[in-house]
Amino acid sequence: MPIRVLVALPDAARREAAARALGKGDCAPVLAATEEEFLAAAEDGTAEVVLVDKDFPGVWIGEFLREIADRPRRPAVLVVADKPDRGLQETALSLGAAGVLSEPLDLAALPRRVLEAHEWVRTVVPAGPRGLRPGEDLRDLLGASRAMAPVLTQLIRVWNHDVTVLLTGERGTGKGVVGRLLHERGPRRTRSFVEVNCASLGAALLESELFGHEKGAFTDARTEKRGILEVADGGTLFLDEIGDMPGPVQPKVLTALETKRFRRVGGTEERRADVRLIASTNHDLGKGVAEGRFRGDLYDRLNVVSIHIPPLRDRGGDVLSLARLFVAEFAGKYGEPVAEVSPAAAARLSGYAWPGNVRELRNVVERAVLLCQGTAIRPEDLPGRISGLGDSGVRAGTGGFPTLEESEKDLVSRVIAHVKGNRHKAATILGISRSTLLGKIRRYGLE
Ligand SMILES: Nc1ncnc2c1ncn2[C@@H]1O[C@H](COP(=O)(O)OP(=O)(O)OP(=O)(O)O)[C@@H](O)[C@H]1O
Ligand SMILES: [Mg+2]
Repeated sequence: MPIRVLVALPDAARREAAARALGKGDCAPVLAATEEEFLAAAEDGTAEVVLVDKDFPGVWIGEFLREIADRPRRPAVLVVADKPDRGLQETALSLGAAGVLSEPLDLAALPRRVLEAHEWVRTVVPAGPRGLRPGEDLRDLLGASRAMAPVLTQLIRVWNHDVTVLLTGERGTGKGVVGRLLHERGPRRTRSFVEVNCASLGAALLESELFGHEKGAFTDARTEKRGILEVADGGTLFLDEIGDMPGPVQPKVLTALETKRFRRVGGTEERRADVRLIASTNHDLGKGVAEGRFRGDLYDRLNVVSIHIPPLRDRGGDVLSLARLFVAEFAGKYGEPVAEVSPAAAARLSGYAWPGNVRELRNVVERAVLLCQGTAIRPEDLPGRISGLGDSGVRAGTGGFPTLEESEKDLVSRVIAHVKGNRHKAATILGISRSTLLGKIRRYGLE
């Protein structure tokens, strides 16, 4: 069966030439000269590959790619551009295009490019990445919303490759989850995964954490210590919050990554470390480079494939599907009979802006599972900022307000009674640590 190719090039001569070249390969071209013809051919769903000029009148490629991303049998899209720049390449690929071809088209190679694109979309996309378990779907793991579609497409592309990936996105969007998934299902899955938070340590400590140190390298170095690079050798190094990596450490990390060699702090022996790098940041690293806070050469080294995870507020239906996932997780963990989210609670969850993203959602659901008294989470089980009901324990509108201490004591004792004395659960519901809770129990004599 020839591959049905929709050829949407504005210039008649170019269109005919491409069609002739495709006809010689095993392709059946369908030509579109106007927006109407393009839409009619694209909508009827028969085209398996779409060859479309970036400036084809009336067609906004980005929107078209987004729109077809969710289709079960979507066409492979090859974007044609006069001198395509890196920005266009990146945008098109991240939105799920199969490739970008530059003008003038290499007509002899065109049928092969079409065939490759067709195979890519037919085999890689529906069958999913090889590392996924049978029946597992990335959309179930990370979200099926339209905003996540480009993320999934990019993940699928890098899935089986040992490539450096930079994950960007707001706090709590799941950069850590995606980084771990890339390792666990990637080519180095049988080797170690080591994570280091670049924001939590000063320059000297981070350096000795990464590279290790010899005995006596500095005052506290009483024994020698292997660095994370040694531990991660052969596996994956996840550099979390890389945007906050102290300036002095940046060139050393770059050298180690480029040469795959490093020395421990205070050491002379050269050691080898071969790590796959995954980095994450919630900063705009490009801006960091422009402002001199982040080294441009390190940024280039990291920015081979960059994947932006959108905030939860832009992810539509993912809020509820993730909420259900967390309900099942915490109902299992705490042995609670909660199985679902009531329609009223679902409406509140969907209407909230989630400044803390998936992390906030997970915490809210954990608390709700513990507060819930039936099998479905109700609006009352959600914090006041989400339910709009006002938090329990505040007797508003009476004028006779309790003191903060009184109301805190009352709240703590009611929560403890609710969870029948389980302090772990009580601390989770109250959003405080166990030790803070113990302090309050003692202080208010609630034991
Ligand atoms: N797709 C998901 N499925 C299940 N849990 C998720 C998902 N995405 C995020 N989470 C949960 O949300 C929380 C935050 O995720 P994670 O730590 O990966 O975010 P992050 O982007 O690395 O945030 P930060 O920048 O604050 O470290 C974690 O508890 C994680 O388990
Ligand atoms: Mg993280």
